[in-house]
Amino acid sequence: MKQARIAVLVSGGGTNLQALIDAEQAGIITSGKISLVISNNANAYALTRAQNAGIATAVISKKELGSQTAFEDKLLETLAAAEIDLIVLAGFMVILTKRVTDAYSERILNVHPSLIPSFCGEGFYGLHVHEAALAYGVKVTGATVHFVNEIPDGGRIILQKAVEVREGDTPEILQRRVMEEAEWLILPRATELVAAAIAQSK
Ligand code: GAR
Repeated sequence: MKQARIAVLVSGGGTNLQALIDAEQAGIITSGKISLVISNNANAYALTRAQNAGIATAVISKKELGSQTAFEDKLLETLAAAEIDLIVLAGFMVILTKRVTDAYSERILNVHPSLIPSFCGEGFYGLHVHEAALAYGVKVTGATVHFVNEIPDGGRIILQKAVEVREGDTPEILQRRVMEEAEWLILPRATELVAAAIAQSK
């Protein structure tokens, strides 16, 4: 059976990457193979998770390359060299321009820790999203997996899952619950859905 070749782009701890690795090992992801993990940050623990799973890694630092254009040149070159079909942004903190999102139209997924269109767009990432949800006082939040286009968090939604906000939640506690009850479930599922469609057309 043909499989989609998947690159996972990360910046930090990589718990969503771990969920994808575990899902591949558990047979939840069968239509795709995680072939490469790319980080913009050489110190990301996500790189260690990839290495522990025997997955090839690359570091592409925007800081070192000096510009968004140079960063995207290197990214596109690396993705092409590895013959990547599907890109998964799993806690990746660099915004990609239209040049990259058009080159991989409907082939880039992102997981966002809220129910889009709430608490999303520029400036809403990581813990900030949960701080904003608590400050607003919503009683339900969640996570969204969507296709990535040139508008931050603006691409077509693939899967969402709601998570309850509880009395006394801190941003950290809420972040953890959203990960456990939503992100780590819907990211592997959405990845399999899209990978299956790509694998069929290969
Ligand atoms: C996750 O909560 C992810 O949804 C969020 O960053 C965290 C990364 O954690 N992504 C964004 O906010 C993107 N806008 P991880 O490195 O442990 O997967």
